[in-house]
Amino acid sequence: MSSKLSDTVSIRPMQADDLIQAEALDRLAFSDPWPAGAYIYEYENAQNSILLVAADTSRRAGQELVAAAVLWLVVDEAQVATIAVMPQYQGKGLGLKLLATGLAQAARRGAVRSHLEVRAGNAAALRLYYGLGYQTVGLRPGYYKDNHEDALLLTLEGLDAEKLDAIAAEA
Ligand SMILES: CC(C)(COP(=O)(O)OP(=O)(O)OC[C@H]1O[C@@H](n2cnc3c(N)ncnc32)[C@H](O)[C@@H]1OP(=O)(O)O)[C@@H](O)C(=O)NCCC(=O)NCCS
Repeated sequence: MSSKLSDTVSIRPMQADDLIQAEALDRLAFSDPWPAGAYIYEYENAQNSILLVAADTSRRAGQELVAAAVLWLVVDEAQVATIAVMPQYQGKGLGLKLLATGLAQAARRGAVRSHLEVRAGNAAALRLYYGLGYQTVGLRPGYYKDNHEDALLLTLEGLDAEKLDAIAAEA
């Protein structure tokens, strides 16, 4: 793992045992978390999805999950449905590692580009996405219901599994 992250943190596919922790993480990370049961639905309908978590094995049993991401594969596109890193693990490259890992898997399954939607004021997320090469391709004014914030639509073209593997390994 990265020199910035503990050797005890690793990325793996989401398992049934992770679902309660994933929902708890989502509520910690977002002001408007996914509704209850959303992760269970994603897990049970994952034929065209990539569900990843990062687990820190040095944490207490039942509290190992420190990050999660869901990508939806639609024909040759990978939509980033959600990505969340536990607050005390943010800013250490874990979001980058998780997203690059998910995008590399998506590329191996035929995705050539990625799309996502992000709050215009989410500076940490935008640093992550722009750093990876996403570009803003659209804007939905007042899209978010809680505070009427604008949504930016971002696209990353030319997904390359090997390059993404290298980014994930470096993060
Ligand atoms: C947004 C979020 C997932 C980012 O995760 P994180 O672990 O804090 O992010 P990272 O530490 O990986 O930061 C990304 C860094 O990688 C850098 N980076 C991105 N691509 C890179 C690349 N190809 N090579 C080198 N660096 C790169 C970015 O510049 C950024 O560095 P900086 O903060 O020093 O400028 C996290 O802050 C979070 O969970 N926020 C709450 C939930 C949320 O808003 N999710 C996104 C919804 S759209």
